[in-house]
Amino acid sequence: MLDARRRDCLRDMGITLWVRREAPARDSVSVSQEDPPPVVADAVLPEKSLLVESTFTASAAAPVSAMDPVPLAPVVDPAGLDWDDLVTAAVGCRACSLCETRTRTVFGVGDRNARLMIIGEAPGAEEDRQGEPFVGRAGQLLDRMLEAIGLSRDQVYIANILKCRPPGNRDPRAEEVLACRGWLDRQIALVQPEVILSVGGVAAKNLLETDEAVGRLRRRVHHYRETPLCVTYHPAYLLRRPEEKAKAWIDLQMMWRELQGDVS
Ligand code: URA
Repeated sequence: MLDARRRDCLRDMGITLWVRREAPARDSVSVSQEDPPPVVADAVLPEKSLLVESTFTASAAAPVSAMDPVPLAPVVDPAGLDWDDLVTAAVGCRACSLCETRTRTVFGVGDRNARLMIIGEAPGAEEDRQGEPFVGRAGQLLDRMLEAIGLSRDQVYIANILKCRPPGNRDPRAEEVLACRGWLDRQIALVQPEVILSVGGVAAKNLLETDEAVGRLRRRVHHYRETPLCVTYHPAYLLRRPEEKAKAWIDLQMMWRELQGDVS
């Protein structure tokens, strides 16, 4: 049975709740003929340790004048860095030209021991301003999606393929993804999530090295290196195409079952 809060989250996601006519009544969602089993509630999650790595600014790098631009520099090798050194190095990163236009480096946020890691595309305007991933409208929807499966933002770890905002929210370029990849790989290695949820086409493409669309990648468990990885739509896409939210709900439930070790 879904509790009232989760029911509200599902309604906010635009998912219609219905109750079967025949007794016993139970809550369900009108997603499809393949209506998956309801969410397993209240699974045991690791101790929360909220570590908001969100307040880093580009000013960590040495001050520069317009007459004396800091050259782009190759990224330091993040393999082997601990959290503190990783954060410091990423915040000062000048490996691609996005460092010239960022307000803040958006490193990542959440529980460094999380069982679930969510990977998105790149910071938008609000994330660039606040230094935290998924805090704009798409982020608010992501929060509601997490709540719908009984998770709060501080129980997961959230990061992006890119740590700096592409101007005008254009798509990440291949050289930017390449330059940024070491930070994400090290984050994954340190968090050691049990499951990765990849949101949107850019994350899926780069993590799975595929050009297949999200619609063809979802509903299967992939692997990123050794870690199970589920694919779903980007919340920004769901804001534009609310009729697709029911599919995201199916994806979240499959991801949840994977987290429970329950996917056949
Ligand atoms: N979209 C993303 O993919 N990541 C963010 O942090 C914000 C919006």
